Amino acid sequence: MNDQPSSSNRRPRKPGKPYRRPQKDPVRMLAFEALRAVDERDAYANLVLPPLLRKARDKGDFDARDAALATELVYGTLRRQGTYDAIVAACIDRPLREVDPPVLDVLNLGVHQLLGTRIPTHAAVSASVELARVVLGDGRAKFVNAVLRKVSADDLDGWLAKVAPSYDEDPEDHLAVVHSHPRWVVSALWDSLGGGRAGIEDLLEADNERPEVTLVARPGRTTAEAVLTEVGEESALPGRWSPYAVRLAEGGEPGSFDVVKSGRAGVQDEGSQLVALALANAPIEGSDRKWLDGCAGPGGKAAMLAGLAAERGAVLLASEKQPHRAGLVAKALDGNPGPYQVIAADGTRPPWLPGTFDRILMDVPCTGLGALRRRPEARWRRRIEDLEGFAPLQRSLLRGALEAVRVGGVVGYATCSPHLAETRAVVDDVLKGNDGAELIDARPLLEGVPAVGDGPDIQLWPHLHGTDAMYLALIRRTA
Ligand SMILES: C[S@@+](CC[C@H](N)C(=O)[O-])C[C@H]1O[C@@H](n2cnc3c(N)ncnc32)[C@H](O)[C@@H]1O
Repeated sequence: MNDQPSSSNRRPRKPGKPYRRPQKDPVRMLAFEALRAVDERDAYANLVLPPLLRKARDKGDFDARDAALATELVYGTLRRQGTYDAIVAACIDRPLREVDPPVLDVLNLGVHQLLGTRIPTHAAVSASVELARVVLGDGRAKFVNAVLRKVSADDLDGWLAKVAPSYDEDPEDHLAVVHSHPRWVVSALWDSLGGGRAGIEDLLEADNERPEVTLVARPGRTTAEAVLTEVGEESALPGRWSPYAVRLAEGGEPGSFDVVKSGRAGVQDEGSQLVALALANAPIEGSDRKWLDGCAGPGGKAAMLAGLAAERGAVLLASEKQPHRAGLVAKALDGNPGPYQVIAADGTRPPWLPGTFDRILMDVPCTGLGALRRRPEARWRRRIEDLEGFAPLQRSLLRGALEAVRVGGVVGYATCSPHLAETRAVVDDVLKGNDGAELIDARPLLEGVPAVGDGPDIQLWPHLHGTDAMYLALIRRTA
């Protein structure tokens, strides 16, 4: 990184103003490095950040508070990028696209400190200007200083009143700027959620919150009570809906617990647990011995299903197209109390015979619009065209599952997206051409979980259930 004075600073200095080397602040430097990796290399923040934090800790640069601040700066800046871009655009006299991406990253990091944290104004501006001097040079640091001074003249509400169109004029654009989501995502989420302004605002805000870390006590290997005791009841709470869930208190490091290291528990959103449980508990007639997870990687639901299958004398085949992800499934299932098998196979050209399985989960690849809380950059990277890319594969995998299940058996079609094009449209299309299958009501299988929709399928929501926005339709083969 460039920590030398830029050429603009080689001019003779005014007497009394000696050159001062910029201060390197390890927290801001690390946050900037992570943002650049996300932008330049299409990296995922949740994968880039942990090794950077580990390196800083090993070098002795960081304590736990520094790590928490760096994480907050990276995640907050990425989540609120849409809002911050609009504010920066209002403070400069050229189009935003003409600002170099590294400069924009320093600016947005500064705007987040000013408007999204309790860091005092002077500290937020001076830390950002010092960062700019180190990574951009003194010339561009002056630009950063000028922009952030303008931003600091108002608070977030004041800026939103200036830069967002009014709700009455354009509701979707208003929500997109205020809650920092692309407009097409606002529109799609609203179509799926239905209702008025309050619900969609709650949902969009929930996407901007850091999700709780939830553990699953893997069936047959341990119980939620045992995990609670092991983790310490002061550090965790029971799940809201799943009897296998344990919610960690803020800042809880799941990897530090023996119960997680040993694989008896794993990290798994409660919505994902509910999907696996509903499929496992769906009523079927006759034999119940052969279960398939047809899109198993990385193995969260498969590990649960394998444990539940073992408790009932059934066997799970966990199948995944990508060999390296099949490897992750094998790791998640290692230690399962009963028999299981993991294979790498394409669910659209399966190696199994028609009518083989009693229960099948098809948790298909999708846009992931239901898990935006976890992937702060995902909303900016996804394109509406991605839906078209997934559509044929989702239909083909569901058709394949309906062939692979025996008459009387059940298929669960799941997505971690609430987009109607990936949920109901797929199920409706596939069932339209299939007289031998019918939807069954999934709602009674989520006993006690309110507001899952009008059925027969179920849709979970971050703002209503504290889970990812998982979708599940249960389909019985009738002929
Ligand atoms: C949403 S993820 C499944 C998540 C998993 N059920 C869990 O709970 O951990 C979808 C998976 O389907 C896999 N996949 C994509 N195309 C596939 C295909 N044609 N056949 C089987 N698996 C496929 C992807 O590699 C990905 O791992």
